[in-house]
Amino acid sequence: MTIKSKISQLINNDQSNTQKLQQICDLLKSNYAHFHWVGFYFVHGYKQELKLAQFSGEPTEHTIIPFGKGICGQVALSNENFVVQDVMEQDNYISCGIGVKSEIVIPIFQEGKNIGQIDIDSHDRAPFTKEDEELLEFVCSEVASLNLQNLISQDPS
Ligand code: SME
Repeated sequence: MTIKSKISQLINNDQSNTQKLQQICDLLKSNYAHFHWVGFYFVHGYKQELKLAQFSGEPTEHTIIPFGKGICGQVALSNENFVVQDVMEQDNYISCGIGVKSEIVIPIFQEGKNIGQIDIDSHDRAPFTKEDEELLEFVCSEVASLNLQNLISQDPS
């Protein structure tokens, strides 16, 4: 079974969103040697910030990221994929570990609205391919088919 078929199967199983997103993180991380950290951030209420949801890899202290800050925060505003083959070349970057050399962030859209993103860190320099980007766009479009209201916090707290 292809990785895309596995993702679609996970999306359509009868588990909770939390379980599905965790399994997607684990599946991607274990299938791609250059994916060292895989996580989902979703828009957090009225605060113009992202909140970390499920992830696979080392825990990070960056569980809340303001819009505009770091690679993730920039994608929250730009609505564009951001492929960073060398994080040392970025001045607006939030480090999640000294081992991280590159990062890819792909936005998730529901009804045209940027509601979150998948974020992948790599310890390799310049590892990301067009195929990775296309696969992750597919993952994001599949995730967008879920009802994510419980993850996109709307409360002002
Ligand atoms: N490096 C990200 C922060 C999130 S961690 O990679 C998990 C950024 O610059 O936004």
